[in-house]
Amino acid sequence: MDYLDFLRSLHQRLEPQRYLEIGVRWGQSLGVSRCLSVGIDPAFSIESELHTEVHLYRTTSDEYFARPEPLAPVGGEPFDLAFIDGMHLFEFALRDFINAERHSRPSGLVIFDDVLPRNVDEAARDRITSAWTGDVYPILPVLARYRPDLLTVAVDTAPTGLLMVLGLDPTSTVLADHYDEIIAEYRAADPQPVPPEILDRTFVQAPERVLGSPLVDLLVGPDAGSGDLAARLRTAAAEYLGPAYLD
Ligand SMILES: C[S@@+](CC[C@H](N)C(=O)[O-])C[C@H]1O[C@@H](n2cnc3c(N)ncnc32)[C@H](O)[C@@H]1O
Repeated sequence: MDYLDFLRSLHQRLEPQRYLEIGVRWGQSLGVSRCLSVGIDPAFSIESELHTEVHLYRTTSDEYFARPEPLAPVGGEPFDLAFIDGMHLFEFALRDFINAERHSRPSGLVIFDDVLPRNVDEAARDRITSAWTGDVYPILPVLARYRPDLLTVAVDTAPTGLLMVLGLDPTSTVLADHYDEIIAEYRAADPQPVPPEILDRTFVQAPERVLGSPLVDLLVGPDAGSGDLAARLRTAAAEYLGPAYLD
């Protein structure tokens, strides 16, 4: 399944009220949104039809989130869904997650693009291929190690995979507090040491299976934000996607 079809299905299932997109380019992924949306990109050039009220910012995500009120365009309310697809370098992706989570609902969903490079060249920090994931992939071991409270589900979408992050904690400062040590340990020089399990996609979930699971349903409805959401998400993931999600 193409990543845009997966995103479209998620928008339909979740019916988010506020959507954040970091990295807009031609507006293809923004085109699937039907809710109040914020798009951030220093160099967007919209070619796709947009179908909703969109606030576009021609700036970097770092600059945008340094503003005093990043939620002002969405009425001061946090995001329900965020898509991180901006600068494909590890430190940028990590900062984008820190900022996206901080401005999301606990029942929100953050999705990374490009976490599953198909080869080492595609993952290079110094771009040498036309299709480029860059080194976003270390976000997988970093979230597993520093944020075991989050539920992360890697999805086998074409072309370069998605990572769903659920059970958010907008108050967490763990990643920000350990930012320098994380970058020092996980940012590697080219050629990238992409782990074989990422290249082989051994641990990923079929997109149809994720969409057919009750995970997304747990994020909507009146109980979605209640205290034990993380536990319910983990139980559902273990039941429908496999016992590894109980770890
Ligand atoms: C892969 S494209 C986004 C594609 C779009 N999400 C889609 O699927 O249709 C990546 C975009 O990130 C933008 N970008 C680069 N650096 C950025 C930054 N620091 N903050 C936000 N966007 C950035 C680029 O200008 C580029 O348009």
